[in-house]
Amino acid sequence: MLAQANKENIQKAAEYLKAGELVAFPTETVYGLGAVAFDEKAVKRIFEVKGRPFFDPLIVHISKFEELSSVADWQSDALIHERVLKVRSLWPGPLTLILPRRPVVPDIVTAKLSTVAVRIPSHTVAQQLLLAVGKPVAAPSANPFSYVSPTTARHVDDLIGNKISMVLDGGPTEFGIESTILSLTGETPEILRPGIVTKEELERLLGKVNLRAPSKDAHKDPLAPGMLEMHYAPRTPLIFSEDYRKASSPQHVGYIAFSAKNEFDNTFSPISILSKTGDLNEVAHKLFAAIREQDQLGLDLIVIDSCPKTGIGLAIMDRLGKAVRKTTSH
Ligand code: TXA
Ligand code: MG
Repeated sequence: MLAQANKENIQKAAEYLKAGELVAFPTETVYGLGAVAFDEKAVKRIFEVKGRPFFDPLIVHISKFEELSSVADWQSDALIHERVLKVRSLWPGPLTLILPRRPVVPDIVTAKLSTVAVRIPSHTVAQQLLLAVGKPVAAPSANPFSYVSPTTARHVDDLIGNKISMVLDGGPTEFGIESTILSLTGETPEILRPGIVTKEELERLLGKVNLRAPSKDAHKDPLAPGMLEMHYAPRTPLIFSEDYRKASSPQHVGYIAFSAKNEFDNTFSPISILSKTGDLNEVAHKLFAAIREQDQLGLDLIVIDSCPKTGIGLAIMDRLGKAVRKTTSH
């Protein structure tokens, strides 16, 4: 059920969560599908609703920094302790930290890893909901497994609305791309998933930060879960504009442009322009919705722009790299 994210419905959603039910809610990145993190049975249902394999662990959402110790052991190791304090200023916000886990966090949440993923979302609805629940909430993106993350409540409702107790509608999400996942447990801090918080920004706070390369065998590698190659694939084949060859192309081809270029080939229809000026923050904000929209038109092919892999461009190209077909036959 779609419900306006007002005070009353947020309270209702909190009651559902406390009763072991599932609720989808907005965060500043994408919509999440939540269950109380300590409620194993409820968390199991998240996996069922999403069709998500159990080896892919979930992010635990907390409302404030003081709650971190309830799920993560971040103070025992001096180096980890120091690193957490260095990036603390980025919370609440689109940053997920991988930290040593506390045993109270159920195995099903962490896929039996010794670490736990934690984030403090900044979205006011997410904040109010977490406060009302009073417990950490495990929440992956509220999409069926291996499909693009939802950036509106309507997307969630269309995909899984009938399987959960409530979809809190807080409007379109601000950033449109998932949080940056940063592991602080290794020798050098490592980005497992590039996101809204950029590598450059993290390096200013932490010094050297590594970027984990996507692994084709992620499902065999418990240290790199969720980095599956086709994780963000739409149903319609998607290719980068530089790989598009008009001569051998099918009839119905859509185009997703990052900026308003002077000229578009008139064979493309529709053409979605994500940002007039090519502002990559705007591109990220609209990216998943545009892919989803064109994916529903029964097109033969979607052609999409690319951008330099710096700043937020790294996160955009990470998602697109997983979504495009690995062929250049079109
Ligand atoms: O922006 C976001 O992060 C959104 C909102 C709802 O918070 N959530 C989200 O969750 O994108 P999800 O489940 O779609 O992606 C979480 C990723 C997965 O790729 C998972 O493998 C990884 O986090 N992850 C979770 N726990 C981990 C751990 N202990 N070690 C390594 N990766 C982990
Ligand atoms: Mg996801």
